[in-house]
Amino acid sequence: MNENGYFAIINGPNLNRLGRRDPATYGTAPLADILTAASGAAPDYGQRTFQSNCEGDIIDAIQQATDDSRCAGIIINPGAYAHYSHAIADAIRDAREAGRAVVEVHLSNIHAREEFRARSLTGAACNTIITGAGGYGYALARMALAHHLNEARKP
Ligand code: DQA
Repeated sequence: MNENGYFAIINGPNLNRLGRRDPATYGTAPLADILTAASGAAPDYGQRTFQSNCEGDIIDAIQQATDDSRCAGIIINPGAYAHYSHAIADAIRDAREAGRAVVEVHLSNIHAREEFRARSLTGAACNTIITGAGGYGYALARMALAHHLNEARKP
């Protein structure tokens, strides 16, 4: 395990279907490949990945990361929960209060799609949102967290 700790990468519903699901919108790479590629960005930090189609399990994963002192930050793609889960937004707020920076990732540009996707309740609770960079968004999120940690360390 990396001495600087790890980033928890939490993925929500239907993201286990990446590679097969709507490739015109989400690309053809499976989630595992995207996350392996992302781990090369900001290599001072490790990563632990989690995916679930269930809201409560996602909240449990956020709480676990929040309570683990080795967790240096959280990256979350809540899938469609982004647009209506006050419960996940509250868990993110709790993580922030506990000192974890949180970055939300969407592969697609949620502002360029159906109107209901343009609003992210969970994103409003995060430090940063990355949307529309495809799978590379996870690498960008790692860099954003590393930058945030560097800034926080400055006197
Ligand atoms: C998504 C965008 C959501 O609107 C959608 O429901 C998803 C994927 C994205 O990564 O672009 O499941 O979070």
